[in-house]
Amino acid sequence: MYYPEDIVEEVRTRNDIVDVISGYVKLQKKGSNYFGLCPFHNEKSPSFSVSPQKQMYYCFGCGAGGNVITFVMEYENYTFPEALKVLADRAGIKLPEVEYSKEERAKADKRSTLLEINKLAANYFYYQLHQPQGKIGYDYFKKRELSDETIRRFGLGFANKVSNDLYQYMRSKGYQDEILRETGLFTMDERGTYDKFWNRVMFPILDVNSRVIGFGGRVMGDGTPKYLNSPETMIFDKSRNLYGLNYARTSREKFMLACEGYMDVIAMHQAGFTNAVASLGTAFTTQHAALLKRYTDTVVLTYDSDGAGTKAALRAIPILKEVGISTKVLSLTPYKDPDEFIKNLGTDAFRERIEQAKNSFLFEIDVLKREYDLNDPEQKTQFYNATARRLLEFTETLERDNYTQAVAKEHFIPYEDLRRLVNRLGNQLGGAPVRPQSGAYGSYEDRGERAREPRKKREKEDGIRQSQRLLLTWLIERPQLFEKIEGIVGPEDFREPLYHQVAQMVFDGHARGEVNPAGILNHFINDEEQYKQVAALFNASLKESLNNEEQQKAFSETVLRVRRNSLDMASRNATDIGELQRIIKEQAALKTLHVTID
Ligand code: GTP
Ligand code: MN
Repeated sequence: MYYPEDIVEEVRTRNDIVDVISGYVKLQKKGSNYFGLCPFHNEKSPSFSVSPQKQMYYCFGCGAGGNVITFVMEYENYTFPEALKVLADRAGIKLPEVEYSKEERAKADKRSTLLEINKLAANYFYYQLHQPQGKIGYDYFKKRELSDETIRRFGLGFANKVSNDLYQYMRSKGYQDEILRETGLFTMDERGTYDKFWNRVMFPILDVNSRVIGFGGRVMGDGTPKYLNSPETMIFDKSRNLYGLNYARTSREKFMLACEGYMDVIAMHQAGFTNAVASLGTAFTTQHAALLKRYTDTVVLTYDSDGAGTKAALRAIPILKEVGISTKVLSLTPYKDPDEFIKNLGTDAFRERIEQAKNSFLFEIDVLKREYDLNDPEQKTQFYNATARRLLEFTETLERDNYTQAVAKEHFIPYEDLRRLVNRLGNQLGGAPVRPQSGAYGSYEDRGERAREPRKKREKEDGIRQSQRLLLTWLIERPQLFEKIEGIVGPEDFREPLYHQVAQMVFDGHARGEVNPAGILNHFINDEEQYKQVAALFNASLKESLNNEEQQKAFSETVLRVRRNSLDMASRNATDIGELQRIIKEQAALKTLHVTID
């Protein structure tokens, strides 16, 4: 962190979380907390809560959570220093300038200069499109039936045939070669400097905050490459951005439409489907999926209907599944892509296709089927077997059965026969089926041993982690429990490294007379994974459903388990006999110990 802790803490405490979040989300008071619609995923009923006591927010729907600083970071997609600056300004606090290391400042300056240049370039292209020399580009967009409003909304432009006018323009604005080189907009070699994009219509690529981070350009006519994209730069990471997301994220649809091309996104938005996004001329990645998961639980793939599009869809399905998104696949037949489809059949027909979009598993079976000649009895049997093996990937009996029914119905296979086949194969392969790690067509032969062996161990570890987490949550929720565990459990008994850190701060805070969750969270702000875990820790709540007796039992068991595990670890690491004897004594004492909740 570049700022001293007390400054960060001051900025945080001087910005009341309810005030700040109210500026973004409509909040309603319910009991001691406030509730609203979560800005990080689509929902119809509020599961986003803000606690004025804890100065934290948490969404019970998507698990997003944190303090006022992380809220601004997440919502505005700001870095930590950017969010801190905004909040400091808001509270009238002047941040010390010197705390940036020289490199950090240079880097931040460079980022903002690159954004500035990209924005200027976008304006330049937009201006060119409306000049006589840009008429060819403008006519092209018109031929593709884009309205002026759409052209404006997406900031579409034109890079003309002059080989270095953009470069000259940037020089005239005072930018030096050193920084221009890093924009990816120019080719520089011993012969000179040239504009990378020329004779192309231009698609500025915006991040979720509508800052221009790169460009795509489509050639006029049949030249190659058809689409040229900015290379990755300091501000342009193709696997972490999606075209159209700046608009799609505010669409109130429950799902997102994912397609292949810039023109598809634009055509869909123009037709009113403002929830469409596309990856940037690259394959769909896990980061893309994680990004989408912040806004939706369902994705409808509208990839091209050709072989490449089908392949891309098959690739994307397991990637989306892994982050918990369920996927449907839309059929565009007889057209190639969403743009053509909408032009030919119109908006209503497209909306109908969305409604008819196929469950991704059934889509995968359709594709599988194409590999077999069903007129040949042997191949037909092979297809059934392959289908049954795919069905075995569902570990839940009920779910597997639902899919078996659906497949049977769709492919005219007698349901009972298919079900028996699935069960028989399941028995042959041994035990309960386990879904392979990833990939629609993973191999199933080796899964038995690999998946089973470490499972017991993992479960035990999870149990230990879980009791540490539970105990921490309780201590934060009900500080009066501290005295119940005095002399039994201390911060050192939280053996999970992250929980240990948090426990130390919670115990220290308690000793000072104030446990301060939002302040503790500041320490984890630079590690997204950690801060999510810690935020969840502070927001999990005691199970209301437990009655007094059950709570008593749960609490005492949890305390003892944490301590027991801690002693087990200590005894494993003990180096001398004296220490070991002391541990054994304590282990024995634990057996007669009684912990009460009230
Ligand atoms: P047009 O309608 O002909 O303008 O193109 P399209 O929108 O139908 O796109 P197409 O299906 O040809 O390609 C889909 C996406 O793949 C484009 O938006 C680009 O992001 C990317 N793409 C296509 N061709 C190229 C290429 O030659 N180079 C690169 N880098 N990307 C391409
Ligand atoms: Mn097209």
